[in-house]
Amino acid sequence: MPLDTTSYALPVARTIQDLRATVQKWRDAGETVALVPTMGALHSGHISLVDLGRTHADHVVVSIFVNPTQFGPGEDFDAYPRTEAEDAKQLVGKADLIFAPNAREMYPEGFSTTINLSGVTAHLEGLSRPTHFAGVATVVAKLLLTCLPDVALFGQKDYQQLLVIQTMVRDLNLPVKIIGAPIARDPDGLALSSRNIYLTETERATAPHIHRILQEAAQKAAQGADIKALCAHGMAELKELGFIPDYLEIRNATTLAPFDSNSVEGPARALIAAKLGQPRLIDNIDVPSA
Ligand code: PAJ
Repeated sequence: MPLDTTSYALPVARTIQDLRATVQKWRDAGETVALVPTMGALHSGHISLVDLGRTHADHVVVSIFVNPTQFGPGEDFDAYPRTEAEDAKQLVGKADLIFAPNAREMYPEGFSTTINLSGVTAHLEGLSRPTHFAGVATVVAKLLLTCLPDVALFGQKDYQQLLVIQTMVRDLNLPVKIIGAPIARDPDGLALSSRNIYLTETERATAPHIHRILQEAAQKAAQGADIKALCAHGMAELKELGFIPDYLEIRNATTLAPFDSNSVEGPARALIAAKLGQPRLIDNIDVPSA
């Protein structure tokens, strides 16, 4: 299939072969490449990764693929927003190429390989969504090996995912530099997410409490407060506000393991997952060092 250059104002590769051929042309000209993997439904958080990619490489490829293997049973794979034409519009003048394969291209019949990580996946999202990170690691490995970019960009919004990808790239010696980008937020603090569109108006007004509760917990933890008590207090507050919290934890920023003692020791991260109405929202922030 030739590159699709007519649907949108920037070209789309729908096959692995076309992506490889386009990137190879750039490489032959001595030019560098950044990859921004996404599942589409792009918002300014995604675009901030594209802009950052542009500062690191001559060309930016954005992949758009709603990856079925990272959704668990009962999760929102079918309902996940698919807005390719809108996404393409947002990328004009920012990205050089969209890679938008279909599921058959990424997972042909007989596909049998899964990348499983231990360690960092044993906590938080890994417990709530037991097959999620295997799906993410496998598809990201495929995207990296297909595109072979110089750099690939991922948001700290999905903090544990970023750690999983950094670990996989290190363990498998994948020749790519992983860059973690800051979380883009609305002015009221809510982290941008493709799933925020599911929030009703009232829920949207409540949602920024996630960020406030994280900030308060992180600040108090930095001042030496008891972590368990802080997190229990935050969980209770979330419930009172109408969230169904999954976790609020303050963890080792590198391993996500809990601290042995009641207070923070070394680099730490505060992380939340909570349902509000339909969507499950996640967010996290740095715990400043004391
Ligand atoms: P998706 O949720 O579309 O996110 C694509 C990238 O955008 C991820 O690296 C994510 O962390 C980043 N991102 C999302 N919201 C952000 C925000 N508010 N600020 C900064 N970055 C943000 O994450 C995935 O897709 C998939 O798991 C994927 C890595 C593409 C594998 O399928």
